[in-house]
Amino acid sequence: MLSDLPVAETPQISGAGRHSETMDLGFGGEVAELYHRYRRGYPPELIGACVDAFSLTGDDLVIDLGCGTGQLATPIAPQVRAVVGVDPEPDMLAHARSAAQDQGVANVAWMVGSDSDLLLLRSLLGEQSVGAVTIGQALHWMDHESLFAAVGPLLRPGGGIMVVANGIPLWLQDSDWSRALRDWLSDWFGTRPTDSCGTDDATQQLYRESLTANGFEVSKIELDYADELDFDHLLGGIYSALPVDRLPPPDERPQIAAELREVLHPHRPYVEQVPVRALLGTRVA
Ligand SMILES: C[S@@+](CC[C@H](N)C(=O)[O-])C[C@H]1O[C@@H](n2cnc3c(N)ncnc32)[C@H](O)[C@@H]1O
Repeated sequence: MLSDLPVAETPQISGAGRHSETMDLGFGGEVAELYHRYRRGYPPELIGACVDAFSLTGDDLVIDLGCGTGQLATPIAPQVRAVVGVDPEPDMLAHARSAAQDQGVANVAWMVGSDSDLLLLRSLLGEQSVGAVTIGQALHWMDHESLFAAVGPLLRPGGGIMVVANGIPLWLQDSDWSRALRDWLSDWFGTRPTDSCGTDDATQQLYRESLTANGFEVSKIELDYADELDFDHLLGGIYSALPVDRLPPPDERPQIAAELREVLHPHRPYVEQVPVRALLGTRVA
């Protein structure tokens, strides 16, 4: 799934089966900071739906794969005994850890690792030891077939897997400001940004079919909201989706910001539509 736009959220090398220590996915350094600062968390209703679907209690363990800066792991943690947040990028984990500490959340173990470590986690934690495995906006980096096949025995009866897509990219919205942004990004990168980062219907359907084929009973949650972005959040959101080596040097950023501001200004307000889509696969005993 190679992107036309060099966005960090699109695998530019295959993550599947690689050792996490050899991964350089572009989420390090300043991108981790930008991600933490500018990217959306999830509506509380989504966390509630996950808790309800898998009957999570204070006795449960949850694994959040591709946890990033803790968008899912941290709000789930108060509902359960402990969460293991797994991500190959130590800088993302460092932000996750300090943000969780700031919120007084102390029951998350932040681990460097990847989807290919799931079998190891299964031997470490034991079969039927986990109430839920969650994956927020990260499955497109993973080998979902192997993951769905491996995860079943790790889950306790009634537990399950939640796969979430958090809205659609800023450059693919159906609005005049987003169309203007697409044109501007095309000029900048010399190629049109088309990648949906796994949020499109066809990819969701693929995940759903694969979950079903691996013995999960699947339901879907759709939560829609809209939110107005100020220009700084819009630009920060774009920078947070670039691999760190494609971020413009700091001295060029004022000029870039001025150009983009002028291009987008006629299309204000920048209202982002955020369709949150979650597949909830319950392990059928
Ligand atoms: C777009 S971020 C999503 C972060 C967070 N879960 C969220 O919902 O916003 C994708 C994350 O997946 C991580 N990632 C990439 N490949 C991975 C893999 N093979 N296994 C686990 N995580 C991976 C990246 O380091 C990054 O932190």
